[in-house]
Amino acid sequence: MNQQLSSKSGPIGVFDSGYGGLTILQQFRKILPEYDYLYLGDNARAPYGSRSFEVVYEFTLQAVNRLFEEGCQLVILACNTASAKALRNIQQKNLPNIDPTRRVLGIIRPTIEIIDGITKTKHIGVLGTTGTIQSETYNIEINKLFPHIITTGEACPMWVPLVENREFDHPGADYFVKKHIDEILHRDSQIDTLVLGCTHYPLLVDKIQRFIPEGVQILSQGKYVAESLHHYLQVHPEMSDKCTKGGTCKFYTTESVEKFSDMASIFLSENIDVEHLSLE
Ligand code: DGL
Repeated sequence: MNQQLSSKSGPIGVFDSGYGGLTILQQFRKILPEYDYLYLGDNARAPYGSRSFEVVYEFTLQAVNRLFEEGCQLVILACNTASAKALRNIQQKNLPNIDPTRRVLGIIRPTIEIIDGITKTKHIGVLGTTGTIQSETYNIEINKLFPHIITTGEACPMWVPLVENREFDHPGADYFVKKHIDEILHRDSQIDTLVLGCTHYPLLVDKIQRFIPEGVQILSQGKYVAESLHHYLQVHPEMSDKCTKGGTCKFYTTESVEKFSDMASIFLSENIDVEHLSLE
């Protein structure tokens, strides 16, 4: 075990490449307000969506190690791209050597688990980053649990930059939103559920809503991921005991603190305590 990691309890670590994970954190704080949270956004290196498997894995592992050093016993990868490309390796290859008592969880599995109860046509669409869609993680995992569901994935490479650059509510974003909605619904017209398979996308939800026909619903994963974490902590009281409960939330960004607090205030509607850190 890594000798530096001596703490026995700490906040729940929440990691994303940038701001997207705040949509997950928000739901955690709503459903599990008693816990302490430590959010880390690797904004300086976002987006991750177009990066290679090796790079996403390397960056995510750096972030997880950093959150462990801060005392986190449980880290949630609040990023589909990191969940798709780095989670399994971190769980299987790294965690046993770093500290087998700590846990790293992703957000794709909890999203998939509820999908069969939501779709009626059993045709779903997944909107995600190029990395998430190319990894086919959603298709593979859905097929394992619900082989009768037909899954169509659509990579939307411009959507994260639109959010990270604060263009998500501007008219220029319409073109890119409509383009991918039209494309996926053209590929499978029986889709009745569109999964927002990227934590940044809830910020585009108003625009997405405008371009989908009646009868197609949007599934934002935050609520389901938070409910799944709630359940996890109930069935793993030993882990819940290691997560401190003071109701606090602290933020780290690898980019400028001013930029982060400015943007985070849009997501969270509150003033936040942000510190800068470097992961390299
Ligand atoms: N928000 C992340 C996700 O859920 C990553 C987006 C990115 O950095 O490209 O996929």
